[in-house]
Amino acid sequence: MEVDGIAERNSHSPVFLEGEDVHDWSKEEDVAIEEAMSPTSPSDTGALEADSPPPTDDIYEDIESQLQELQLDKIEEKLPGHEEIKQHVEEEEEKKRHLNVVFIGHVDAGKSTTGGQILLLSGQVDDRTIQKYEKEAKEKNRESWYMAYIMDTNEEERVKGKTVEVGRAHFETESTRFTILDAPGHKSYVPNMISGASQADVGVLVISARKGEFETGYEKGGQTREHVQLAKTLGVSKLVVVVNKMDDSTVNWSKDRYDEIESKIIPFLKVSGYNSKKDVHFLPLSGLVGSNIAKRMDKKVCSWWNGPCLFEVLDGIEIPLRDPEAPVRMPIIDKYKDMGIVLMGKIESGTIHEGDSLLIMPNKTQVKVLAIYCDENKKRRAGPGENVRVKVSGVEEEDILSGFVLSSVVNPINAVSEFNAQLQILELLDNAIFTAGYKAILHIHAIVEEAEIVQLIEEIDVKKKKVADPKKKKPKRRPLFVKNGAVVICRVQVNNLICIENFSDFPQLGRFTLRTEGKTIAVGKVVELPPSGNVLFES
Ligand code: GTP
Ligand code: MG
Repeated sequence: MEVDGIAERNSHSPVFLEGEDVHDWSKEEDVAIEEAMSPTSPSDTGALEADSPPPTDDIYEDIESQLQELQLDKIEEKLPGHEEIKQHVEEEEEKKRHLNVVFIGHVDAGKSTTGGQILLLSGQVDDRTIQKYEKEAKEKNRESWYMAYIMDTNEEERVKGKTVEVGRAHFETESTRFTILDAPGHKSYVPNMISGASQADVGVLVISARKGEFETGYEKGGQTREHVQLAKTLGVSKLVVVVNKMDDSTVNWSKDRYDEIESKIIPFLKVSGYNSKKDVHFLPLSGLVGSNIAKRMDKKVCSWWNGPCLFEVLDGIEIPLRDPEAPVRMPIIDKYKDMGIVLMGKIESGTIHEGDSLLIMPNKTQVKVLAIYCDENKKRRAGPGENVRVKVSGVEEEDILSGFVLSSVVNPINAVSEFNAQLQILELLDNAIFTAGYKAILHIHAIVEEAEIVQLIEEIDVKKKKVADPKKKKPKRRPLFVKNGAVVICRVQVNNLICIENFSDFPQLGRFTLRTEGKTIAVGKVVELPPSGNVLFES
C-alpha cells in the first residue's frame, strides 16, 4: 500500500523529475538554440553580396544577430544539458544516504499514528487533509485514529483501526532520505510484518506506555517480543524503542513509568541478540500530540528528558556500508505490468544500472533493465539498501513469483531445495517436541514456502557458546529430538527450488523464521548449502 497521495504531494527532492514537462522544456531550449544558431538564409546572403551598400538597418540586424549568436554560445556553454542536470541531481541525491525504517510493535501501540505525525511534521500533509481525516474518523467512530489514517489508507484498515498491509511513505532530514514501512501489529498479519521487516535496516519499536497496554503487548502471546525476535532475525540491525502515549492520562509523562518499561525491555532485547548500548536507543514520545518527534521535548511538558528527539536519533544511526561492487541480489517482493514488467524489491547487494543484463533466479531468465525507480524518482542506477522498482524486458509476468531473486549473470544466487541451518527453537505449540519430520512454513527474505525438517544434525550447547562449524565432522550420535529453547543444527527441505545464501556471505538472504499455525516457533540462519550447482546434498 503506497501512500500515493502523499508521495505525490511530497516534492522533497528531486529538484528534477523525469517527466514530460521537463523533457519539453529541454526540447524548447534546443529548438530556440538551433534556430538562433542556424546560418542566415541564402536569399539574405545574396542580398548582402549585392553591389549596392547594405542598408543601415541590415547592418544593425547583422550585428544584432552576431551578438545574439555570441550570447547564445555563452548561454549554451553555461547551460548544462538534460543529461548533465540529471546526473547532477542524481549525485546530489546520492550524497544523502537512504535508510529503510520499519515500525513494529504490538497492535494499537501507535505505529501508524507516529508514522502519520512524522509526515505531518515534515510538511507532507496539509491541514485540509487532516481535517478531512478527522471528519472521516469521527464518522467511523474512530475519532482518535485520524492521524493513523495518513498511513492506513484502505477502507478495511480505517474501519477497524488496524493496519493490515505494510504502509509505505517517505520523508527526509538534513542528512538522510527515509522510507517508512508501517507494519501491522495484529497477530493475524505477522506475515505482512515479516515482509516489511525484511526490507528494513532500522526498526522503530513502538511501545504503548498506557496503563495495561504495555503489559498486554509485552506478555507472552503479545507481539512486542515476537516482533523484536523477528526483526533481529530478518536483519534489522538497529532498534529505536519509542515509549509512546506518554501524554495519556494514565502516564502523564511519568519518568517512573518510562524507567519501568525501559528496565523491563532491555534484558529481553539482549537475549534477542541486540547490544543494548550500541544497537538500541530509547526515547519517550507522543505520536498523537507530536512531542519529541521533529523537535526536542518541551521542558514544560516533560522536564526530565534531556535526550534527543526521534529525527535526531534516526539521523545519527549508522548502518555498516554495503559493498556496491558485490554481485547483484534483489529478492522480488512484487511485480506488475507497465509497458514492461516492473519488479519491486530491495537491493540487498550490488548495484543495478539502467541497461544491465540480469538473471531472474531460480528460473535463469535473462532480462534487460529498462528503467529504475527509487520512491517516485527515476534513477540511472541504484545501490545496496535501496528499495526500488526495476522495469525489465525479456520475461512474462506469470513467470515471476515473489521470492525469486534478481541476480548478476556472473555469480548468480544459488537455487536449492535443501540446506543446513542453525535453528533457535522459540516456542513449540503445546510444548511439542521437535524432531525430523516436523513441518512448518519457512519465511526467508521474500520467500514463503512449506518446509520439513528432515534431519537433526547436532544440538548446540548454548551455555558453552559453541558456534556451529559446518565444515566440522558431524557428531556420531545425532539428537533424536530437542525441546523449547534448544539451538540445533538441522537439515531443512522444501518442495520447490528457492534462492538463498549462507548467512555468513549474505546475512539478509540467509536468515529465516519458521512458523506454524500463525506462530513463530523458531528463528534460524543458513549455515551450509549443497555444493555449488547442486540442488541437494549428496546423501
Ligand atoms: P496496528 O496497526 O493495528 O498495529 O496499530 P498501530 O500501532 O498502528 O496503532 P494506531 O496508530 O492505529 O493507534 C492506535 C490507537 O492509539 C489510536 O486510537 C491512537 O489515537 C492511539 N494513539 C497512538 N499514539 C498515541 C499517543 O501518542 N497518545 C495517545 N494518547 N494515544 C495514541
Ligand atoms: Mg497501524
